[in-house]
Amino acid sequence: MEFNAPAGRNLFDASKVVGKSTPRIDGPLKTTGQAPYAYERHDVVANQAYGYIVGSAIAKGRISAMDAEAARAAPGVIAVILATETKPVGKGMSNYAPLFGGSDIAHYHQAIACVVAETFEQARSAAALIRTSYDRSAGRFDFPKLAPEAPLAKDEEGKPDRQTVGDFDSAFAAAEVKIDATYTTPDESHAMMEPHATIAAWDGDKLTLWTSNQMINWGKESMGKILGMDPKNIRLDSPYIGGGFGGKLFIRADAVVAALAAKQAKRPVKIALQRPLMANNTTHRHATIQRLRIGAGRDGRITALAHENWSGNINGKEGENGTLQTPVLYAGANRLIANYIATLDLPEGNAMRAPGEAVGHLALEVAMDELAEKLGMDPIELRIRNEPKSTVPGKPEKRFSDRNLVRCLREGSTRFGWDRRKAKPGSVRDGQWLVGMGVAAGYRAAPANKSAARVRLDGNGGVIVETDMTDIGTGSYTIIAQTAAETLGVPLEKVKVTLGDSDHPAAAGSGGQWGAASSTAGVYAACVTLRQKIGQTLGFDGDKAEFAGGKIKANGKSFDLAEAGKLSVDGGIEFGKFKDDYDVGTYAAHFAEVAVNAYTGEARIRRMLAVCDAGRILNPLSARSQVIGAMVMAAGAAMMEELVVDTRFGFFVNHDLAGYEVPVHADIPAQDVVFLDTLDPIISPLKAKGVGELGICGVGAAIANAMYNATGVRVREYPITLDKYF
Ligand code: MOS
Repeated sequence: MEFNAPAGRNLFDASKVVGKSTPRIDGPLKTTGQAPYAYERHDVVANQAYGYIVGSAIAKGRISAMDAEAARAAPGVIAVILATETKPVGKGMSNYAPLFGGSDIAHYHQAIACVVAETFEQARSAAALIRTSYDRSAGRFDFPKLAPEAPLAKDEEGKPDRQTVGDFDSAFAAAEVKIDATYTTPDESHAMMEPHATIAAWDGDKLTLWTSNQMINWGKESMGKILGMDPKNIRLDSPYIGGGFGGKLFIRADAVVAALAAKQAKRPVKIALQRPLMANNTTHRHATIQRLRIGAGRDGRITALAHENWSGNINGKEGENGTLQTPVLYAGANRLIANYIATLDLPEGNAMRAPGEAVGHLALEVAMDELAEKLGMDPIELRIRNEPKSTVPGKPEKRFSDRNLVRCLREGSTRFGWDRRKAKPGSVRDGQWLVGMGVAAGYRAAPANKSAARVRLDGNGGVIVETDMTDIGTGSYTIIAQTAAETLGVPLEKVKVTLGDSDHPAAAGSGGQWGAASSTAGVYAACVTLRQKIGQTLGFDGDKAEFAGGKIKANGKSFDLAEAGKLSVDGGIEFGKFKDDYDVGTYAAHFAEVAVNAYTGEARIRRMLAVCDAGRILNPLSARSQVIGAMVMAAGAAMMEELVVDTRFGFFVNHDLAGYEVPVHADIPAQDVVFLDTLDPIISPLKAKGVGELGICGVGAAIANAMYNATGVRVREYPITLDKYF
């Protein structure tokens, strides 16, 4: 089913089920500890043994020798696999670091061995007996030092990632008011609750992985490529996922090593990546350096806008591109956007929630605040004044599908009490605390990807939806059930949703903020096809019939859904070429009030508000949870999170949850989330867009701007910790 234009017929006008706040149907299982996560699936296969991974103690070089004699003789040990005795496996899709095998070491904590034993403790204890010698080579670990020499990134066709519109240099030179500021963001860890975990079992040449993965069909293809197998012989099952944030978009060492270890042990093997390995063995968000130059007239109209971004990665190609939102967010005839990438020998940088935009706003939206102050203009008014008419300056045909950023800003201003903000920094005091308010705009692209589902009637009035779509804690189960319930006119309780199994039709998966919009559109399309099939079975036109309350009204007659028997449809949706003509994005206005202790520099967020524009909101309750979670994550990015690099030995030092600080409840005050709940006429028949990554875009900048408004000290080096005030 190809969908290119606004649907002629909107089944969702009444918002009967879709669009209603609905508690998550998987909620009771999760809150009572009964949702089985990968490592806890004790009953899926008998005779599970425990694997324990050993990580490399050097960041770059070679293993010269490994001695596993003592480990192999240790109590309970079933097998030991060593990298030096294993041919290197392939790299996964979108993976840049090797996952296992061979003597070469590309990054710290690269998996080099796995001990399989009867119990976890036996495996861990034996792993400590493996002796490894290395030839260490010099590596490139110091990103800030290497960044200035970094070459321009290249796109897939090899074109340098540098966009120019008009003549930035002349326009900037001539501008009446200018900002030239550089911001830095550190490496960050996904730090999800559930570590990467897999149970692997072989049945002849067939491999099953009970795992924790956001993208099941990518995972299946990727695993085939890594192990040199036909993906048809691989099954992934991932019904519950304890957080991913992009860290589980790809196959990682837990799955690969569990598969190799299970083969050698001739038994199913389960591996959960140990927490201290997570930061260096898996992926992280890359550090950035971002230079913003903005030139404007005294009236606040931007005439010149340059955003240059530096990051680094193990492959020297894919970095963290902080410029993504900049061409879309503001008008301005003369532009320069450039993205540079240094080659580093640190662990692999890869996607983390709103890759690019999450850190891009930390620079752009603070630069806008700096410009507003220089102009003596309200920062909200400055943004409204620079609202673009089209996505490309001077090209009115390049349109936004639906954009309500100005409404977000105005609505937020009223709700937050922005008029109480004092423009002069450091002018509000509450005892020892300096109090300030900040605002920032947010933009995150809203992609939509091909998504399929199987929808079946159970013959008793119930509906079963099966797809490999995942629920990473986002609420996919619920919005998919809502979509099927409404399209087929049955109560929500009558819909059973099975997710995360690669034996089911391939969905868009959970990534890039495309999951909700794509997977529900796919389920909707399958349900529409099922309606037609029901019509053929019972003798009416399924497109014209009315499906409601478990009944069907057609040709002046009423049918029970059960009368159609056990029908099944494999259907789905492909998205058309609208991306060529439209920018389909989501928008937000973020507000924060922060207090900074005048004596210690300790900071406390007092209030936060997000006003979001993301098309139809499928389930306001779970969408709100997504945004609230993202706001917390953004508070972490602004104020505490940082993977500290040991630039001598090339690893992240604080590689556990004791050393890597993330916000806790006590850090987070009153949060409010408002949705404009508009309809995006372009994206899909449901007119809905994702919101989970929008929620993190701009929040940190609002906090940083509030901290500046409180103190009058502008810290451009994230996270803004108290030491940086002095
Ligand atoms: Mo997202 S970083 O594509 O899970």
